[in-house]
Amino acid sequence: MRKIDIFDTTLRDGEQSAGINLNTAEKIEIAKQLERLGVTIIEAGFPASSPGDFEAVHQIAKTVKNSIVTGLARAVKSDIDAVWDAVRVAEQPHVHTFIATSPIHMVYKLKKSPDQVVEQAVEAVKYAKQKFSLVEFSCEDGFRSDREFLVRIISEAIKAGATTINVPDTVGYASPEEYGALFRFLKENCIGADRVKFSAHCHDDLGMAVANSIAAVQNGADQVECTINGIGERAGNAALEEIGVALHIRKDIYQMETGLNLKEIKRSSQLVSRLTGVVIQPNKAVVGKNAFAHESGIHQDGVLKNPETYEIISPALVGEGEVPLVLGKHSGRAAFRDRAVKMGYELSEEKINKAFQEFKKLADRKKEVTEEDLVTLLTEQQVLV
Ligand code: KIV
Ligand code: ZN
Repeated sequence: MRKIDIFDTTLRDGEQSAGINLNTAEKIEIAKQLERLGVTIIEAGFPASSPGDFEAVHQIAKTVKNSIVTGLARAVKSDIDAVWDAVRVAEQPHVHTFIATSPIHMVYKLKKSPDQVVEQAVEAVKYAKQKFSLVEFSCEDGFRSDREFLVRIISEAIKAGATTINVPDTVGYASPEEYGALFRFLKENCIGADRVKFSAHCHDDLGMAVANSIAAVQNGADQVECTINGIGERAGNAALEEIGVALHIRKDIYQMETGLNLKEIKRSSQLVSRLTGVVIQPNKAVVGKNAFAHESGIHQDGVLKNPETYEIISPALVGEGEVPLVLGKHSGRAAFRDRAVKMGYELSEEKINKAFQEFKKLADRKKEVTEEDLVTLLTEQQVLV
């Protein structure tokens, strides 16, 4: 099994979601949960961006012991200094510095030539290396950058001392085939590639972030950057829980392990949702309310006979409690009877049939029949033992 490092950026890129603003206490609570979840690296914030962010990163660096703590820095000395001041107390201080490398970003945003960008990147990495042993260098908008230019700037960054090279799909434009091929190409062509870790960082604008991240690790990336519940700029980042569970459930094909404590996934998801106020869509993979809910009679019957008929992930794997079968208009007799028995009713076949007919009429009127409805219905039918 190949080890894939999980670099969690919930507290940095995730917090860059519109409408999210976490205070220091909330950030510490999330960081502690990420540590329990077993992520390799926590990107705790962007210290130069505000005094509040600096303080949060600093407190997290003091508190967290079992995950590496890092902070984001533009490729400028003052940002790198801010990260150093914030995380120097950590056991393994780490800095994540970046500069944009795509033509559109260099021309319009940075207003710099490619040569100037390389120079600035090298200077920043060299400067960071004087303080930090772990230096991650990111080529912002890497996926839309010229490949030969990426080879050049990455080779220079490695020579300057970078220990991790991150190639983000900043705007979520890549397809899995292309993103995977880019990693293969860079690993084969960058000078010193065998001495560093390569990292994938995907955004979800086309709904490809998780697939792209997995394509990257299949093509040699050693680390994936992701967020709990996939929160992040615009459509968000690759969802940590989906990557972690996909690599685990399909380890037969991927042959990789993340070191995540998957039982902490549900708790992590709920905590981030509660503190950020970002509601999880019900059909969200792994952590959505309906991720393990079976509604149709055919599925319910199958699951009651053997959960694996319709469940590829056991709810317990991700720390989810028992999920009762949904009682709605698509439900079958098997689920109805199962629930009645679990509620303590012992019903003859005749009584089950009668109550089930009434249940179906009620289910046609209501979206979901609750246990309270069931008690009323069974009592009304005078089938209560
Ligand atoms: O998406 C991105 O390019 C980023 C960088 C700062 C790594 O978040
Ligand atoms: Zn990002």
